[in-house]
Amino acid sequence: VENKRIVIITNSLVNSLYGAKLLSVLRKDGFNSDLIQVPDGEKYKSLSIAKYLYDELLKRKADRITALISLGGGVMGDLTGFVAATYMRGLPLVHIPTTLLAQIDSSIGGKVAVDHPLAKNIIGSFYQPKAVYTDPEVLQTLSDKDIKNGIVEAIKVAVIKSPDFFKWLEKNIDQLLKKHKELLCEVVKEAISLKVDIVLKDPWENGLRKVLNFGHSIGHALEVEAGYQDLSHGEAVALGMLIETKIARNRG
Ligand SMILES: NC(=O)c1ccc[n+]([C@@H]2O[C@H](COP(=O)([O-])OP(=O)(O)OC[C@H]3O[C@@H](n4cnc5c(N)ncnc54)[C@H](O)[C@@H]3O)[C@@H](O)[C@H]2O)c1
Ligand SMILES: [Zn+2]
Repeated sequence: VENKRIVIITNSLVNSLYGAKLLSVLRKDGFNSDLIQVPDGEKYKSLSIAKYLYDELLKRKADRITALISLGGGVMGDLTGFVAATYMRGLPLVHIPTTLLAQIDSSIGGKVAVDHPLAKNIIGSFYQPKAVYTDPEVLQTLSDKDIKNGIVEAIKVAVIKSPDFFKWLEKNIDQLLKKHKELLCEVVKEAISLKVDIVLKDPWENGLRKVLNFGHSIGHALEVEAGYQDLSHGEAVALGMLIETKIARNRG
């Protein structure tokens, strides 16, 4: 960070848990830092909230070397990444993913986007962060439902790429759902390395990387249909994997 200027972007829930802590650490380290909060929820991963963030950044006179930190789950990462990619044609971006899903999936690979009422992730770009700071310790405050949402993407990458990891997940699933610390650490490490491997071979998704969309064609359609409420991304992808597998089997 060149001029030591940082703006953290987070949502109300994550702010109440970790916002003040992060701000005080940064300030102690001499960073001129600030925090902008948006409401919590997938339906706020939108162009209108992106516009709100542009307004707030302009008010704070954020310039091209002001770094943005996304603090939160996949929604915060995708939204902050989108704003970082577009505000003044690109600001330095750092992700601090705080959900299991964001730690193993959305913070890696540089896809950033907001949703449109008619299609998910349809307005976006590829924009790589300068760094990703992942601390599995923060998963201890995550809801059971969001642990499950993250496990869904871990199962996805296991089905795609690693029968061994799939077996390991099957064996440890009960402990994982109980947020067993060491096992969660292992999931994070293993799932990240599987995803990184695929993304490095095809960063722009011209071919191979498309395998990571397993469950997502159907899943995204379900999320749009639900109006980005009541059905989480993980739940939609879980249903998507079931339906897509059935379609594949019926086709022989
Ligand atoms: N860019 C990519 O490659 C990519 C990949 C996968 C998913 N995604 C996107 O990620 C999004 C889903 O992400 P998600 O599942 O993380 O949802 P999310 O960001 O909505 O987070 C889920 C919930 O957990 C809360 N939360 C976050 N961290 C917490 C913590 N440490 N303790 C307690 N609560 C916490 C959030 O406030 C929210 O209520 C979707 O929009 C999806 O499209 C993107
Ligand atoms: Zn996904």
